[in-house]
Amino acid sequence: MNKIEVRERRIVKNLEAAGRRELILKAAVTQGLLHPEEALVAAFIDLDGVRENVAALHREFSANSRVLHAFAAKANCLVPVLAALNGLGMGCEVASEGELAQALAAGFSPDRIVFDSPAKTGRELRQSLLLGVAINADNFQEIERISELLSTSPSLSKIGIRINPQVGVGGIEAMSTAGATSKFGVALADEGSRARLFEAYREYPWLTRVHAHVGSQGCPLALIADGISRVVDFADEVNRRLGRQQITAIDIGGGLPVDFESDSLESGFGPYVQELKRAVPALFNGQYEIVTEFGRTILAKFGFIAAHVEYTKVSGGRRIAITHAGAQVATRTVFMPEAWPIRIGAHDGLGRTKQGTPVAQDVAGPCCFAGDLIARNRLLPPLEQGDIITLLDTGAYYFSTPFNYNSLLDPGVYGANIDAEGSVRFTTLRRPQNISELLERTGLDDLPEALTLALTAAASSTLP
Ligand SMILES: Cc1ncc(COP(=O)(O)O)c(C=O)c1O
Repeated sequence: MNKIEVRERRIVKNLEAAGRRELILKAAVTQGLLHPEEALVAAFIDLDGVRENVAALHREFSANSRVLHAFAAKANCLVPVLAALNGLGMGCEVASEGELAQALAAGFSPDRIVFDSPAKTGRELRQSLLLGVAINADNFQEIERISELLSTSPSLSKIGIRINPQVGVGGIEAMSTAGATSKFGVALADEGSRARLFEAYREYPWLTRVHAHVGSQGCPLALIADGISRVVDFADEVNRRLGRQQITAIDIGGGLPVDFESDSLESGFGPYVQELKRAVPALFNGQYEIVTEFGRTILAKFGFIAAHVEYTKVSGGRRIAITHAGAQVATRTVFMPEAWPIRIGAHDGLGRTKQGTPVAQDVAGPCCFAGDLIARNRLLPPLEQGDIITLLDTGAYYFSTPFNYNSLLDPGVYGANIDAEGSVRFTTLRRPQNISELLERTGLDDLPEALTLALTAAASSTLP
């Protein structure tokens, strides 16, 4: 295929992405999933797109037949979403007992779950070992804890150590985990660290994995591959010095960046695998099983949030659209707008793409603080009361991790499948939260007792 053909193919695909979104949005309006009073915000995941993406992931890594692609549950922890990914042959990476419970509820078998977290509790470790969930220990104290637990009850869990290869930070410092002083893992290049790590593997034959996650979004492929190559070098050294292949698996983490600027659906697994083959050929020579932990790359491009425009105004000469999507569903974008800008679509109340000449405007959310803006001075067709905006590429780390400020209700999340005739079928992935559930979450059930206690305390403090 020549360059022009590649470009044209991409353009067709891009049109497909936008066209599919519009079909989903229009169907959502028609079917009442979005409504100016009853359902102000809703989120959607194009399940057909996710299926194709996961198939591409499996295809691109097929040069190593022993791969477990463990989806990072933090990217989207909705149980039906996890269940769908389980059905597509993925495993699951979890980082708390809550995520572990979600993964188990989604049907992942324990031997396809990997537990990472820098702060695993004794209870979490005991449960994981009992179930046979894989564990990446974060530090030497955790290794000692695991050792004590194993001395009383053996386990089928595969256990590794998270290593910080200290290759440096990427474009977003807060997302970079391989800086010199990162809180994650054992810092490989610190004085005495390599020797101490080697001793741990020598002493504990149950340590059979190494793990590295260089960072998320903003880390160039070469940086990620460099980090992985350093931990693979270390694994090779351990096996060589021990004279046996004790380390049998390399967990390379996730972190493949997503293109938030275009409608291209190419997830970049192919170029990533090429980079890994160049920088870390040992990963593909059959000696090691590979575990991956992609999150954002699996879902971000296939999800979007839609919200009604409640009012528009002009303030200090600036056009502002006040919408129902703000910090409660786009927390990172609102609090770190430079690091997490997102594309926004403009639609009329029926979901049709607006065509007007773009003008600069702020797109604001409903929260009661001035910074609750999902875009500043953004060129968009003029937004009007009753329109709908879409927040694109938000399938990961957005609606699934809501921010509870102002008691805004969690929106419904719907999976969409589109058939050959263009009909959209929705599956509920999370019901919209209602007011009773909100009251329950905010202590309604504790009301009598809490009030009695408070009144008793108040009465006794006023006694002479
Ligand atoms: C240990 C670990 N693995 C995997 C991921 C997923 O990263 P991403 O969503 O960028 O692929 C993260 C994200 O924070 C992580 O901390």
